[in-house]
Amino acid sequence: MSSPNPHAIRQPWNESQEAARAALVRDLAASPIPPDELLDNLPLYASRSAMGRILHLHSLYERILDVHGAVLVFGVRWGRDLAILQALRSLLEPGNAARKIIGFDTFSGFPSTTSLDGGAAAGGYGVTEAYQDVLAEVLEHRDGDEQNLYPRRELVVGDVVETFPKWLEEHPETIVAMAYLDVDLYEPTKACLDALKPYVTRGTVIGMDEVAFHGFPGETVALRESWGLADIRLQRTRYVGSPSFFVVE
Ligand SMILES: C[S@@+](CC[C@H](N)C(=O)[O-])C[C@H]1O[C@@H](n2cnc3c(N)ncnc32)[C@H](O)[C@@H]1O
Repeated sequence: MSSPNPHAIRQPWNESQEAARAALVRDLAASPIPPDELLDNLPLYASRSAMGRILHLHSLYERILDVHGAVLVFGVRWGRDLAILQALRSLLEPGNAARKIIGFDTFSGFPSTTSLDGGAAAGGYGVTEAYQDVLAEVLEHRDGDEQNLYPRRELVVGDVVETFPKWLEEHPETIVAMAYLDVDLYEPTKACLDALKPYVTRGTVIGMDEVAFHGFPGETVALRESWGLADIRLQRTRYVGSPSFFVVE
């Protein structure tokens, strides 16, 4: 578990955080907690930022309980946010059979980058070979105790600049209750923000992961160009660093 991660692109931790995180990873790998109790005790090892993320997504999800439509996640990577959102759906609205959660990703990292992307390179944030199949299985296991009348989750593989407009064409019934944009880069963020517009309603929540973050300036540029900063009420979350959101009014 301590070998270098070939898929990491950025480590924002300082030295003492790095050491503490490495120690927790060792603690998890050597955990004496029996397997049948491990899943319920994972918060013992989870990072503060992982816990903050749950609170953040929970605060957004609460806002869409009365809004019809799907939850779209742009930028899935290992599936952390999808898993949190799926659990929130199950906890907060088990009866909402119409709430789909759709994840979009290349599953091979950034397809390309521009000068607005803070020096990020193509292939950054990649995952392991055919990871989408592993993730689909895990999400199915997570969903195992829910009664599903029809599939309420989907992974759309490929560059969102192409896959999202095509997916919208194939799903004319789409209303977006929440879109969570975490592709980090200018081009795909702009493409998604633009393509979304005809599918939102008053109350739709648009969450964005790196707004006002110098490491990925392209997300903020895309937001400014697509929606206009003065035309939205951009709010930050109190639980994690740069994630922000606005509600369509
Ligand atoms: C920071 S990660 C997303 C993290 C994720 N939200 C989570 O739950 O951990 C960024 C992801 O965006 C994806 N991505 C970036 N540009 C993309 C594009 N044009 N089309 C599809 N996926 C893209 C990358 O493959 C990567 O998995």
